[in-house]
Order: sequence, then structure tokens, then C-alpha cells
Amino acid sequence: MEIIVTNNYEELSRKAGEIIDSQLKKDSASVLGLATGSTPLGTYKELVMSYEKGETDYSFVSTLNLDEYVGLSPDHHQSYRRFMNEHLFDQINIQKGNTYIPDGKADNLAEECERYEQVIDEIGPPDLQLLGIGENGHIGFNEPGTSFESGTHVVELTPSTRQANARFFDTMEEVPTHAVTMGVQSIHKSKKIILLASGKRKAEAIRQLIYGERDEQFPASSLKEHRDLTLIVDREAYALVN
Ligand code: F6R
Repeated sequence: MEIIVTNNYEELSRKAGEIIDSQLKKDSASVLGLATGSTPLGTYKELVMSYEKGETDYSFVSTLNLDEYVGLSPDHHQSYRRFMNEHLFDQINIQKGNTYIPDGKADNLAEECERYEQVIDEIGPPDLQLLGIGENGHIGFNEPGTSFESGTHVVELTPSTRQANARFFDTMEEVPTHAVTMGVQSIHKSKKIILLASGKRKAEAIRQLIYGERDEQFPASSLKEHRDLTLIVDREAYALVN
């Protein structure tokens, strides 16, 4: 595991952006695994800036996102498809047909999970997967207790996750109860993984990731066995590591 410690969030975002840009320069048909959430937002800004300067070209790039809420249409203001369009895809020259996100509106979700796992195998595996981490060690929507052998699957969101999301919706009833997520094993298919963590909220999770055992109660710990894992963490997130 390689660990890069930065002074702050801006530097973390620049570093992650540089790594992704150099992947695109090495292989113009790269496959990127992408995440939503607040942590990668700065990285996406960096990618858009270097694209605008003419340093990168997304014509032949494909992307595979980790997860999507069940029941939200792609244009719903809280769907992960909409998030990705707004923060990245609409601002670069990627072909939308080359951007893959699970379909949370699929009639048959079990089939959708199988289909998405096939997409990962056929389009991917990603050359590089960007990940965030939950305070409880979740990656994607893989919460504590998820099997390390899991492929793409449907998860029921915990009451605390739904409660935390409630602020983005008008009523509690609108908050999705389920999501489709790449499994832990699906994430492991990526050739390279970059996990980002910023702020003291993440410090305990980073301590546990570095010092803890591999344990299904802490999903990110599975990554300790990945052949090419880089952590990019800012000083606050690294504060509990000696
Ligand atoms: C996002 C995702 C989640 C987040 C994690 C951290 O697609 O799968 O696992 O990476 O919840 O979220 P933030 O970055 O908002 O702290």
C-alpha cells in the first residue's frame, strides 16, 4: 500500500487529479472507476480544469460508477447519474454512452446486478478506481458485514444512512430505501485503486485501515490485499497514524 499525505483537501484533490490525468495520457482509452460523495468533488474540478487547458481528451475514455440509488430516475436531483453529469461528464468531452452507472430504475434488480457485473468485466476492469471511505469503513454501499466475495448487489440502506440522506429530500418517504452497488469483489477487479480521505471525521477509519486486520466488519480492510492500492489522505485524516 502506498500512502500519500497532503497538507489539505486542495492538495489531495490536485494529487488525485494528476494521477488520473497521467493515466489518461498513458492510455487514451482508459477505463476509470468513479465514486460520488463529497470527497472526489475537488478531484473532478481538477480533471475539468486540465481538460479545459487541453491537457486531456476523453473521446475514448469509459467510466464505471460504483453505485446508484434504487427508484431514482437518472434525472432525479439526487441520483448519482445526475451527480456525475453535473460534476464531471457534462464538462468534458466524454461520450455519455461510455459512462456506466447501475440502473436504479430497472424492473428486475437481480438481473440488473448481473448485467452490471458483466459490464464491469466487458468494459473494464477499470485501470484505476477512485474510492471514498465511510466513517464505518464502507466502500461503495458495502456496509460492515458485507462479504468480501460479493459482486454487484442490492443493499438495504440502514436507518442511519437514510436519516443522514434525508436533508437532500423534501420528505423522509422520498429517501431511497435501497441501492445497487458494486460488491467488494467487483471493486477488487480494478488494476489500481486510489482511496481518498479528507478531514478529521475520517481519521479513525484511516487508522483502522492502516493498523487493523482484514475483517468483513470493516469493508475497506479488504483493500489491504489489493495489488495496487494508493491512499491519498490529508493531514487531518492521517492524524491518528503515528
Ligand atoms: C460514493 C460511495 C461512498 C462514499 C463514502 C464517502 O459513490 O460509494 O462509499 O465514497 O460514503 O462519502 P464522502 O466522500 O461524502 O465522505
